[in-house]
Amino acid sequence: MKRNPEPELMEKKEQVISYDEADFSEGEVNLINQINHYLSRKNISLSEKDLIVDLGCGPGNISEKLAIKWPKTEVVGIDGSKEMILRAEYKKNISNNQKKLKNLRYICSDIKDIKSNNLLLKKEISLLVSNSLIHHITNLEDFFNTIRSLSSNLTVNFHKDLKRPLDEESALELKAQCSTKYNEILTNDYYASLRASYTFKELKNFILENNLSSLDVFEDSDQYLIVYGNV
Ligand SMILES: C[S@@+](CC[C@H](N)C(=O)[O-])C[C@H]1O[C@@H](n2cnc3c(N)ncnc32)[C@H](O)[C@@H]1O
Repeated sequence: MKRNPEPELMEKKEQVISYDEADFSEGEVNLINQINHYLSRKNISLSEKDLIVDLGCGPGNISEKLAIKWPKTEVVGIDGSKEMILRAEYKKNISNNQKKLKNLRYICSDIKDIKSNNLLLKKEISLLVSNSLIHHITNLEDFFNTIRSLSSNLTVNFHKDLKRPLDEESALELKAQCSTKYNEILTNDYYASLRASYTFKELKNFILENNLSSLDVFEDSDQYLIVYGNV
């Protein structure tokens, strides 16, 4: 199926509310476990000296889980949508986990402008994460340029996203499954995301053609891809 890009930022209020109200916790817990497992295999333990950055953090679902898992470590969630950042900050403020979230903060910025805005960051990034971001980015080089410019040679990258279905029929099947659990706005967004997502081959070829061979791509079930490693 040919890629059909979607707008990068999720800025419409109803879109943000639908996304935030949905329960994606199973997949999110799974991602935190995958990251933890990967760090353990590499003998990396995160402490107060480290910095975790969650790109395209949306309403902060993953940022909060990262902060709860590594409460001593500074966690920064970044999203270009003001509505998403407002939502993320609101959720942080009403969370029952205040103590564990005290090292979590949010920044509103397009990922393409982080470096030039000089927004961050007093430390080097130890762990650079994203979930469901890559498919939003119109040009793959923008995503990889960003992670390249934010990473040192010690930064662990871990980016999970949807994998584009093989054909329209499979995309429609996944859309129909989605509609049994989620509302119409979210179902349409999910379908647009499936059509906008990249394939294993597109990501792998980009990495090979752009001297990024310390990164790799892993097919996580038949629906997801993970780009991981060092830049
Ligand atoms: C599908 S949501 C995922 C949110 C979150 N990572 C999660 O797993 O729940 C994608 C998010 O990426 C953000 N985004 C897309 N393109 C971006 C860009 N160029 N710069 C910053 N954020 C971006 C959108 O605004 C949206 O909040």
